Amino acid sequence: MLNFNWQIPTKFIFGRGAESHAGEELKALGGTRALIHYGGGSVIRSGLMEKVTKSLDEAGVSYVLLGGAVPNPRDTKVYEGIDLARREKCDCVLAVGGGSAIDSAKAIAHGTVYDGDFWDFWCGRASVQKTLPLGCVLTLSATGSESSNSSVIMQESTHLKRGLATEFNRPKFALLNPEWTATLPPYQVACGATDIMAHVMERYFTNETHVTITDNLCEAVLKTVVEYAPIAVKNPADYDAQAEIMWAGTLAHNDTCGVGREGDWASHQIEHELSGLYDVAHGAGLAVVFPAWMRYTMRHNVMRFARFAVNVFGCEMDFERPEITALNGIERYESFLRSIGMPITFAELGAKAEDIPFLAKNVRRNPDGTTGHFVKLDTKAIEELLRIAVR
Ligand code: NZQ
Ligand code: ZN
Repeated sequence: MLNFNWQIPTKFIFGRGAESHAGEELKALGGTRALIHYGGGSVIRSGLMEKVTKSLDEAGVSYVLLGGAVPNPRDTKVYEGIDLARREKCDCVLAVGGGSAIDSAKAIAHGTVYDGDFWDFWCGRASVQKTLPLGCVLTLSATGSESSNSSVIMQESTHLKRGLATEFNRPKFALLNPEWTATLPPYQVACGATDIMAHVMERYFTNETHVTITDNLCEAVLKTVVEYAPIAVKNPADYDAQAEIMWAGTLAHNDTCGVGREGDWASHQIEHELSGLYDVAHGAGLAVVFPAWMRYTMRHNVMRFARFAVNVFGCEMDFERPEITALNGIERYESFLRSIGMPITFAELGAKAEDIPFLAKNVRRNPDGTTGHFVKLDTKAIEELLRIAVR
């Protein structure tokens, strides 16, 4: 197990009525005027925004509203938010929505108190030194952005999607009421479940040994999603299923399952190129990339894939030929993705095989020029892997 240094500043308020704490939590952070950031309007239509603004009114925290964070959130909206927050003298930010609204709000919070261009942080030219206090009300269990150290923004002019990892990205509080996920289209529930599993699997497939505690935690989160995602996809209003998935989503990406080990993250880096180029849902892109990545890397550690097959999908262990078990696990994972309505091929996603060289060239690299850690991939390897997804 690797040494680690881990602190999550996020306060979680979970369950029915959680959104009614928004005002008092912002006030406790010293907030007097909030920029409330949301997406395309689902939170207005569901009635959530009315509850949230009432809570701020009651706490005496004034606010300005900024909608329009889109899936694969754009830098252009961030610039607009920074201007608005400065003009309106906002001293805190509240995101209401899914990962896109939260990620965009994180960028606005950093950019408002930075003299330069906020994109400096996302392209590695500068590191975040301060930010405005940020809280969130989550409406889609998927990205884990409600307590993750990450935020992913797309530069509209280039379609490049870039992630920033910094402790300043962790929200100060997250209000998690599964009731507000009832209005989700089943497709988004499925995309969310796929993303949650991917966050765990990026950590699960590691070269680190003696990480039994986090291996077991990973498997528990994965099994929970495999059990409850089909129920929630069938009926997004199933509170109990959504509650399980919501907490799984949070645990999957705040490093509860990742400390003491080195994660892989190649699938995420590759997927960001797909959702950047084709503007598809992140979870759907992962459903195409992750099984291909597994097939490509399986031979690197067959026993780990066999363990995944047995412990997550209940496959029978073939001790004579563990590669059969490993492959069986990948096939079960693919069937699971199909059963919840996810695409698993390039064509189903709307991606084009002729774009593979372009996609592979742009994938974000480690300092040594490769992508991923469990298996280090060069450009040729990324191309080969993506060709598996063409099928
Ligand atoms: O915009 P609105 O109208 O709210 O509609 C959204 C959007 O169309 C809708 N939606 C959300 N909650 C709803 C709802 N519709 C009805 N009822 C509700 N309760 O769902 C659609 C997708 O929303 P979005 O926020 O884009 O989805 P998600 O939460 O999956 O976020 C995806 C973004 O997060 C990034 C992804 O790359 C992508 O850009 N990620 C962020 C991470 C992080 N910050 O830690 C990690 C992830 O790996 C990921 O990369
Ligand atoms: Zn993800």
